[in-house]
Amino acid sequence: KGLFTYDPGFVSTAATESKITYIDGAAGVLLHRGYPIEQLAEKSDYLETCFLLLHGELPSDEQKAQFVSTIKNHTMVHEQLSHFFNGFRRDAHPMAVMCGVVGALSAFYHDSLDIHDEHHRLVSAHRLIAKMPTLAAMVYKYSIGQPFMYPRNELSYSENFLHMMFNTPCEEKEVSPILAKAMDRIFLLHADHEQNASTSTVRLAGSTGANPFACIASGIAALWGPAHGGANEAVLNMLNEIGDESNIDKFIAKAKDKDDPFRLMGFGHRVYKNFDPRAKVMKQTCDEVLAELGMENDPLLKIAMKLEKIATEDEYFVKRGLYPNVDFYSGIILKAIGIPTELFTVIFATGRTPGWIAHWNEMISEGYRIGRPRQLYTGHTKRDYPA
Ligand code: CMC
Repeated sequence: KGLFTYDPGFVSTAATESKITYIDGAAGVLLHRGYPIEQLAEKSDYLETCFLLLHGELPSDEQKAQFVSTIKNHTMVHEQLSHFFNGFRRDAHPMAVMCGVVGALSAFYHDSLDIHDEHHRLVSAHRLIAKMPTLAAMVYKYSIGQPFMYPRNELSYSENFLHMMFNTPCEEKEVSPILAKAMDRIFLLHADHEQNASTSTVRLAGSTGANPFACIASGIAALWGPAHGGANEAVLNMLNEIGDESNIDKFIAKAKDKDDPFRLMGFGHRVYKNFDPRAKVMKQTCDEVLAELGMENDPLLKIAMKLEKIATEDEYFVKRGLYPNVDFYSGIILKAIGIPTELFTVIFATGRTPGWIAHWNEMISEGYRIGRPRQLYTGHTKRDYPA
């Protein structure tokens, strides 16, 4: 194999240096700029964590107020962009629409094409963080045939998202603070995860000098797959398919059967082989939200808890280090909030946006080469075209 290091799946290849996020998979540690995810989940909030990821330090009170105000300043999307939605079928998968409309933002902000200007890069970061919830809610409204709701900037980031999702021009209800807090926690727990498949995709696209909106659209495409962000949707579908605790053993057997492509969704992680620290916080949030909503007896939660118990005691899963990951419990919370299953991965994409953009910005500001992996050629040797 000589000339190149062969590492399919990039299991042992570091493609970059980074100061943003640290993971110790064996110990179940996740730090953003040095701060443990558990502490951020408890004491910080999503927008503050966005600032931390982007700038490297927690903001002062004044910086935080300024950052929140800047993000609010960018929550609307260009009115022209709303016409894009009409080009999609109403039953299109929301991630298909998100890939399109986020990439299309490049057509509206020509200054973003100047990626070597630090100020322009920051404005693009603010635009993306601010507009993702607006676009996510527009995708949902379009799918159900309701008019788009404009953002309301007196609301918090997560309250505003739920307002745009669930209010209508005929009826504007107060957003439940419990649900807004749960939403904020979900965004925060997804905010970054170092060089995962979608972030690496953003970096690879960015290494060609592509603009940030195009790069984030490529990240959204990579996130869509069920082995990555699409797992949250797949978990809920799986729990529904299991349907009853009595069927769990059958699904566990399927997951262990090497002739069956079925995998337990929400289980396993490339890096975490003991536990996913985000899953612990997510489970706690799930318990809190369901208790506050009086839904502790939710049948899907019961199936999930039983499945977790059986799988984590099963030799097959223990031997391979397969434990519930961040997506295992997020779907149950999202369902309790009222988010439809097909939109789950869009929520992941919205939460992950600051991570993607922080990595892109780090790469552009610190110098980079175009990403260009090599291969081990296994095809024909040279042969002549038939005479
Ligand atoms: N159910 C059953 N078996 C599994 C599972 C699973 N969920 N995940 C891995 N395995 C087995 C796999 O068959 C293999 O067994 P063997 O050694 O006998 O061939 C072994 O465990 C190692 O699996 P792998 O596919 O080599 O591991 P990987 O690091 O390449 O893949 C993964 C990691 C997350 C893609 C995988 O565990 C998986 O497909 N999980 C289900 C999908 C999922 O929940 N994804 C969300 C990941 S967390 C959120 C995110 O970061 O996007």
